[in-house]
Amino acid sequence: MYLIVGGAGYLGTNLIEAVLEKTDEAVCATARNIPPFPPTSRICWEACDIEDRDSVDRLADKLAGESLKVVVCAAFHHPDAVQQQPRKAWNVNVTSLSYLLNRLENVKRLFYPSTDSVYGESEGGHHFQEGDKTTPVNIYGRQKTVAEQLVNGYGYNVARFPFLIGPSLVPGKPHFYDRIAETILRGEPMEMFQDSYRSTLSFASAARFVVDLIEMVAPVPQIINICGDDDLSKYDVGLMIARKLNVPKDLIVPISISGKQGIFETARAQSTLMDNSLLKSVLGLKRIELEL
Ligand SMILES: NC(=O)c1ccc[n+]([C@@H]2O[C@H](COP(=O)([O-])OP(=O)(O)OC[C@H]3O[C@@H](n4cnc5c(N)ncnc54)[C@H](OP(=O)(O)O)[C@@H]3O)[C@@H](O)[C@H]2O)c1
Repeated sequence: MYLIVGGAGYLGTNLIEAVLEKTDEAVCATARNIPPFPPTSRICWEACDIEDRDSVDRLADKLAGESLKVVVCAAFHHPDAVQQQPRKAWNVNVTSLSYLLNRLENVKRLFYPSTDSVYGESEGGHHFQEGDKTTPVNIYGRQKTVAEQLVNGYGYNVARFPFLIGPSLVPGKPHFYDRIAETILRGEPMEMFQDSYRSTLSFASAARFVVDLIEMVAPVPQIINICGDDDLSKYDVGLMIARKLNVPKDLIVPISISGKQGIFETARAQSTLMDNSLLKSVLGLKRIELEL
């Protein structure tokens, strides 16, 4: 059985779809407030707030005896929010994660979604490999680095993701993708940074790769970058969305991030690029594109 902790988020819902598509397994998904998804025979929802130990205990007791393939999506992860509430974020991202890891039994494989934010700035267009030194530039990146160590310390796996994008599958919780699409479909311009790059991937592809890795019989690297081949700015992504929706591409307006770092409360790397050759060799892939 798959357990998706934090299953009602952007990545969590895509993971549920990927498990249903790629395996015959049932899914136990958790959320603090279970969204009104229609019931299905393969998905059950459990309420779980990982900050509440009683609720983690109830979940662990309920699943005792099941052989589990787990993805822990639950996190306090917006960099500005983490900077505003670092103790609350630490409690979710580190303390509660640690308790959860120690309570779950019969875990066949567990993946933890981490982030390119652990790497920091790509100097001179460097594409970070898994073994590179981590130099996060903000508290979010530092907390994720600690979380990775807990996960690896328990013998479980870490996936480092880039900026992820795609249509939200969560009712009432639109993603940035949806805001871009709605804006340009109304015929209004959307300003997007043209000089800040990430190895961007879709939520759907990210979720499918995680399930492929969990289903592998062979050992899986402790840390693996899951990202696309291309260095993409948000402007590049905006153009791809305009093309997909068949709206004029000049509605996507390029702007420069230089001098605009102040619109974010916390420091961010201007560009963070990742190398995906390990993922490609493990899964036998040739090219990984952003598919929207
Ligand atoms: N999106 C990206 O570009 C990106 C990039 C790199 C890494 N990641 C990582 O991917 C993971 C999933 O992110 P996402 O993009 O899917 O964001 P998301 O939609 O906000 O998902 C995060 C989930 O965490 C849950 N959560 C927060 N606090 C919790 C708590 N105390 N107990 C239980 N659940 C809690 C939320 O659950 P509720 O539904 O109960 O509110 C939410 O569904 C995060 O670890 C994030 O750091 C995301």
